[in-house]
Amino acid sequence: MKIVETIAALRNTLKNEESIAFVPTMGNLHEGHLALIKKAKKEAGFVVVSIFVNPLQFLPSEDFNQYPRSFEADCRLLHNLDVDVVFAPDEKMLFPSRQEILIRLPAVADTLEGEFRPGFFQGVATIVLKFFNIIQPDIAIFGKKDYQQLHIIRLMVQQLNFPIRILDTEIIRAADGLALSSRNQYLNGPERQEACQLFQALNNIVCRITSGQRNFLQLEQKAIEYLSGRGWLVDYVSIVNQQTLLPARTGEQQLAVLAAARIGKTRLIDNIELTVK
Ligand code: PAJ
Repeated sequence: MKIVETIAALRNTLKNEESIAFVPTMGNLHEGHLALIKKAKKEAGFVVVSIFVNPLQFLPSEDFNQYPRSFEADCRLLHNLDVDVVFAPDEKMLFPSRQEILIRLPAVADTLEGEFRPGFFQGVATIVLKFFNIIQPDIAIFGKKDYQQLHIIRLMVQQLNFPIRILDTEIIRAADGLALSSRNQYLNGPERQEACQLFQALNNIVCRITSGQRNFLQLEQKAIEYLSGRGWLVDYVSIVNQQTLLPARTGEQQLAVLAAARIGKTRLIDNIELTVK
């Protein structure tokens, strides 16, 4: 496994490769990331994983400085999975001058996560686009954990005609249902115990829809009340159409329930897809 830090060295390493799968990450790898990488290994002859905590996608008030960094442990995991290249660029090399050219995204990027983290998806889309141009992969793989991110990347690739196949993976969860996330490390003991209630609240909505309830606003409201009553600060619970991420309407079949909420100082997101028969 090669660890590459510069764009020139990366281009040189990749120049004769015919089938490249790319997995972008911010490091602090867990089983959720590893699932993406295992899929990449199956899909392509050569796998590149990037590790870069992208400053463009953090608000000034957010946890950029605190974000857990564990480069050596990450490299050991990647080595064990037989990854070909770890791309770990230096911030100054990716941004030799202030990044002034940014991707302007459609309105969907201002909803859900975008409403509570203004500029977040612009930062994500811009760094992913830079990586796509640097690496020129055939395939790129993203997790459904960041459901709206996956949606926006798919849209970007379609509308900007990138010759890249976007694949996804299911959410990897802890035994109690909590979606794995680097930010779970911020949780103290009692918060960690409580954290699986976010998944429970989503599951509850799914059960109610499956058993015939269709008052989506009321279901969202009930879940917000449930979590708030347990001490969560809820940003949103939203039942949406899988294809558009717009609020779901009665009669639509491919839905997803998305939520973001804070327990203590930690903000968690989660979602479940469901098909209504
Ligand atoms: P990061 O949070 O490190 O996540 C990297 C990839 O791992 C994303 O595609 C994310 O959806 C996936 N992932 C994280 N937790 C997962 C879980 N429990 N199950 C399945 N997949 C999971 O997402 C980012 O980094 C950044 O925004 C990035 C795309 C790298 C751009 O900076």
